Amino acid sequence: MLEKCKFIEFDYHTDNRGSLVIVENLLPFDIKRIYYLYDSTSSRGEHAHKELEQCIIAIKGSFDITIEDGSQVKTFQMNDPKKGLYICPMIWRRLTNFSSDCVCLVLASDYYCESEYIRDYEEFKNATR
Ligand code: TYD
Repeated sequence: MLEKCKFIEFDYHTDNRGSLVIVENLLPFDIKRIYYLYDSTSSRGEHAHKELEQCIIAIKGSFDITIEDGSQVKTFQMNDPKKGLYICPMIWRRLTNFSSDCVCLVLASDYYCESEYIRDYEEFKNATR
């Protein structure tokens, strides 16, 4: 399942005014919600979603993301605003090592729903067995 979680490269335009990145028609889901994290000082995440799909982007600065599907674990360094990491449902994620200037943008396939989260790691492991 972890192989479904891939970087998606966005179109961008850079000129003497700076850079502009476009996220259009590339995600495997329609965006229903956007949220962003900044001033992050410790780890975030530490949960999985039963059905939600997400695309996570370091639009400024950097952080690490460790993803796990119950059998495999991978860590990616996020530091390029021109690409996003697609995360399919039932993936445990942990975000760490935020740079002080980091802004992490999350594009999500659905509205916030707490009952859709798995926040207990043992429950996640059992669900993936
Ligand atoms: P939390 O899930 O702990 O953040 P993270 O996974 O990044 O560590 O969310 C922090 C709080 O914000 C928690 O009370 C739930 C709330 N929240 C919303 O109300 N709406 C949202 O879209 C999100 C992502 C979180």
